[in-house]
Amino acid sequence: MSLRKDFLWGGATAANQVEGGYLEGNKGLSIIDVVPAGKDRVAVKKGKMRMLECDEQHFYPSHEAIDFYHHYKEDIALLAEMGFKCYRFSIAWTRIFPNGDDLQPNEEGLKFYDRVLDECLKYGIEPLVTITHFDVPVHLVKTVGSWRSRKMVDYYEKLCETIFTRYKEQVKYWLTFNEINMLLHLPFSSSGLVFEEGENEEAVKYQAAHHQLVASAKATEIAHRINPKFKIGCMLAGASTYPYTCDPEDIWKAMGRDREHYFFVDVQSRGEYPNYAKKMFERMNISIKMEDGDEELLRNNTVDFVSFSYYGSRLTSADPEKNTQTAANLFPTLRNPYLKTSEWGWQIDPLGLRITLNTLYDRYQKPLFIVENGLGAIDTPDENGYIEDDYRIDYIREHIKAFKVAVEEDGIDLLGYTTWGCIDLVSASTGEMSKRYGFIYVDRDDTGKGTMKRSKKKSFDWYKKVISSNGEELE
Ligand code: BG6
Repeated sequence: MSLRKDFLWGGATAANQVEGGYLEGNKGLSIIDVVPAGKDRVAVKKGKMRMLECDEQHFYPSHEAIDFYHHYKEDIALLAEMGFKCYRFSIAWTRIFPNGDDLQPNEEGLKFYDRVLDECLKYGIEPLVTITHFDVPVHLVKTVGSWRSRKMVDYYEKLCETIFTRYKEQVKYWLTFNEINMLLHLPFSSSGLVFEEGENEEAVKYQAAHHQLVASAKATEIAHRINPKFKIGCMLAGASTYPYTCDPEDIWKAMGRDREHYFFVDVQSRGEYPNYAKKMFERMNISIKMEDGDEELLRNNTVDFVSFSYYGSRLTSADPEKNTQTAANLFPTLRNPYLKTSEWGWQIDPLGLRITLNTLYDRYQKPLFIVENGLGAIDTPDENGYIEDDYRIDYIREHIKAFKVAVEEDGIDLLGYTTWGCIDLVSASTGEMSKRYGFIYVDRDDTGKGTMKRSKKKSFDWYKKVISSNGEELE
């Protein structure tokens, strides 16, 4: 078995990290628009610091981002030049419903995505649309407390109904929530949750998770009604957790860590709350408020495919003495002595991708889609402004090799591969521009200065060759 002939090679971005034009075309304020760069960023993202307005003291990278809002034609033309078969992007909720609870959608916002989709289809690029990528209208945070409220299910349903109807001829692949498990780690920037002093944060998060799981199932139901050919996927911040040693205590700890993540996909893909989660809620004294019909809805509307991001594996130990913490997309992990890390401390583990693919396929038996992978690195242009990003090529090459083996040797059903940040964009964790993932360089720095000029890096031509050979030519 080799890669499918129609394998969806491409790249991925998110509205809040590329579009800019944060109040243009009647767009409303989204949660990411009030997340500043700099020292307050982490506290705001975690929901520990309430900041629902912009002020003069802070810099907000999403306000202009890379100005895809005005450059989309040029940018999609470059993706097409690389031979992209697929482009994953997200729709900004606040372009469609500026406040989230508006009675009518905003036509200007809908038209913007009409144009983006037309541009993709003109080049034969299959759109893969994330319905929400770290995106909630600020108005809904203020009025109902975001996903802690059941009302969000209705607002989300309306968003889905609107975009599914409008784009039913142009789009086939949809993702309901980007990295749904991120809700547990970055409750504000992923889901708009802000906590009150002394409240049971875990209870709030899991109730919000229930609302998102119900909303995801509703989206699946609506999608299949509007167009039975739609394919709906869930999206997990993926990666297997390794035990630090063969001590069974470590193995058990690692299994628990993985379950924290798989819990979401277990519901979205298998259609019911797993017993281990019910028991965990009992131990944590959490009772999830469900409405009549929720269980049936979840059971009857499981996803068509499972998508995930993968940057590197995670490591855990049962021994509290082991104190070698490193960063991994804000998930706690120990430092694995066998692995190299990126400049931001993310551990690089291509074999881990094969392991994750196998684990997910064994668990769900559904087609998989790698919708994010890549290396955030500092790029330094030479005297001609050219970037020789061999480090990025090496990283992506090794990960492509790993998923090819998973398909060829392990029989994994893989729909496609979209690298993260195919064009440089604002980093979600740090708000920096200097953490670059792209094949296309964008002249803009961490403070918002630069010409926004786009240029091709060495990896641009390399990836083009990879795509045209369907992954055969990797050197
Ligand atoms: C994922 C997100 O968590 O990782 C993206 O879905 C994000 O939005 C990506 O950008 C890479 O993370 P970072 O922090 O390097 O931008």
